[in-house]
Amino acid sequence: MKVKLGVNIDHIATLRQARGLESPDPVEAAKVCLTLGAEYIVMHIRRDRRHMQDGDLERLTKKYRKHIHLEMAATREMVELALKHKPGSVCLVPEYPNELTTSGGLKLDKKNEASLKIICARLQKAGIKVSLFINPTPNDVRASKRIGADIVELCTKDYSEAKTERQRQNLLEHIEMSAILGKELGLEIHSGHGLDYENVEDIADIATMECLNIGFSIIARSVFVGLPQAILEMRQSIN
Ligand code: PXP
Repeated sequence: MKVKLGVNIDHIATLRQARGLESPDPVEAAKVCLTLGAEYIVMHIRRDRRHMQDGDLERLTKKYRKHIHLEMAATREMVELALKHKPGSVCLVPEYPNELTTSGGLKLDKKNEASLKIICARLQKAGIKVSLFINPTPNDVRASKRIGADIVELCTKDYSEAKTERQRQNLLEHIEMSAILGKELGLEIHSGHGLDYENVEDIADIATMECLNIGFSIIARSVFVGLPQAILEMRQSIN
């Protein structure tokens, strides 16, 4: 089974926001990504709107609805936004003020489980698939199943930042075990965060892996080789 690629294009919007103009346009970037073998366009609308804006979600869902994968915090404001524009899927992520990027998986305790379950059901009722960004542990995979998620996105942040080969192999094993368990429980398995051209292959080789969500490394590479080439190279690294 070919592993799908979701390209996170937040940093196209970051660049645009640097000048407050209309270019570079995330909609134009989405067209390039989808034409060159990406299955999903990943975008994160943050509370502070530092990169993607509500209008971007509106324009992207109008054109590419089922391909749009919206990352968002599990807040009332974001749920209403998702219900208004109905992207194909939503990924619920933790979000903290002043973080440079998402800092890890959701905290899944009893209290959060109950509220995530309600949010999950609301989004699914509107035809939106729900993914939970989680740390790769059996506990969190099982909790995701109880919450009613369709997809789990296993966080690869620690794996990507591993300092030694031993650490990296150990973390890879955690991701693989969680991917196997998730699949057994009937969940769709995605992974992402910090993946690049060098470290992606081992994650893509996990037998039950279905989709990888990658942003920064692709957009950074595109500065030198162009977006189409950066995507093609990532597709090659994944295959
Ligand atoms: N998946 C999730 C849930 C994320 O929050 C992010 C970062 O926005 C990514 C994937 C992509 O991470 P990166 O930009 O490091 O490839």
